[in-house]
Amino acid sequence: MWVDLKAISVREASCLKGTVSIQGSKNTVLPIIAASLLADGVSVIYNCPHIDDVEAMCELLNCLNVETKLVNNVLTIDTSNARYACLPEKLTCKLRSSVLLLGAMLAKWGHAGLGMPGGCAIGMRPIDIHLDGLRLMNVNIDCEEGMLCCSSKGLKGCDYTLRFPSVGATENLLIAASGIGEITILRGAAKEPEVIELCKYLMSMGACIEGIGTEVLIIKGTANLKSVSYTNVYDRIVAGTYLLLATAVCSEVRLTGINDISYLKNIIGVCVKLGACIIKINDSIRIASDGLVKAGSFSTGIYPDFPTDLQPVLASVLMKAYGESVITETVFEKRFSIVNELLKLGAAICVDKNKIIINGKKEIHGHTVKATDLRQGAALVVAGVMAKGYTTITDISFIERGYEDIVRDIASLGADIAYA
Ligand code: EPZ
Repeated sequence: MWVDLKAISVREASCLKGTVSIQGSKNTVLPIIAASLLADGVSVIYNCPHIDDVEAMCELLNCLNVETKLVNNVLTIDTSNARYACLPEKLTCKLRSSVLLLGAMLAKWGHAGLGMPGGCAIGMRPIDIHLDGLRLMNVNIDCEEGMLCCSSKGLKGCDYTLRFPSVGATENLLIAASGIGEITILRGAAKEPEVIELCKYLMSMGACIEGIGTEVLIIKGTANLKSVSYTNVYDRIVAGTYLLLATAVCSEVRLTGINDISYLKNIIGVCVKLGACIIKINDSIRIASDGLVKAGSFSTGIYPDFPTDLQPVLASVLMKAYGESVITETVFEKRFSIVNELLKLGAAICVDKNKIIINGKKEIHGHTVKATDLRQGAALVVAGVMAKGYTTITDISFIERGYEDIVRDIASLGADIAYA
């Protein structure tokens, strides 16, 4: 049995001050890596985060004889000698985004065999919306012993309405549709920044996409997509984690690398509602807070609403607010693993159906808590900065899937935090 022995130890910080440079976006770069399979030659991705999920995605490409190299946050992907292979479940189960190779492999080779995707345990996470769209594109799909076996006598364009604006399904179908010389219409598509960036990338490769940023995407693809270079955007969820952290304690913090603040609007709105003061200066934002958090009602939702990925972090922050706060989770039916761990710190918190109810307290105390998924793990680090005494967060490999170095970032703000 594999055991994660790595942990983070953090002490309550009375004040945070300093600058953090925000890493490149995980959820933007993963679909872009998958899309690169469609080009012949060398694609270059700048500002690529050095995180476990990127490594896992590269490992999958390596199985297809694609060479990948990540040096100083520059990822090169050479598909010159790409060769079809089945992708084994022991690799696909490492991350959810492995399923995005389905669209890319089908457009490139007309068939694809891969194990079921993994990812954070935050709900059922079915892939029916992906598969229904691919079926309409003339793909036959069988599932045998945990392997998806897909083949097509020729992918066709289609007019498909997604029953829910799934980010991953929109990305998968965008990639498949961009790699074939047909017209595809996706209705009810996701509008998340990660989808917008993928559209821009596919356009630069040679696809023609109309309706970017709306729920109707019209894609005219081509089998001759070219390899290009791309500069990844900042990670809005990492930036949001640090904005919420800075809101929760007395702070004066600057985040750099924020080239397009519009992707953060929903998160900034929540931090301001909680009591923080935020201004933008060039490509950075400054946040100041007196650490007096206001209680309130919040809801997660599809973009542009508040992201579900920050729900656990918001729950941590609301432990400090006087009065009752409520967070309604509308995207994932089981994303409540933060609650049991915050109880160990002394929080007055419970789940009622799809709501987290938090009664703010003056004092919460450090304890040993366990990361069980990526964002919940980051939320526990935030809680540790807020709790009296020391908090130890175990199983931090979950956090390393998406944060380049959360300890380095928070230590640079003056907190007493280290790998244990
Ligand atoms: C992406 O996951 C992100 N992951 C998630 O971030 C994020 O929480 C999520 O979008 C929502 O914003 C990546 O980009 C790698 P969905 P994804 O398909 O694409 C249901 C993180 O921490 N659904 O939009 O998997 C699903 O069960 C991760 O970085 C179906 O029912 O999310 C969920 O309830 C965690 N059938 C809802 O839709 C399907 O075929 C949203 O899922 C697909 C999804």
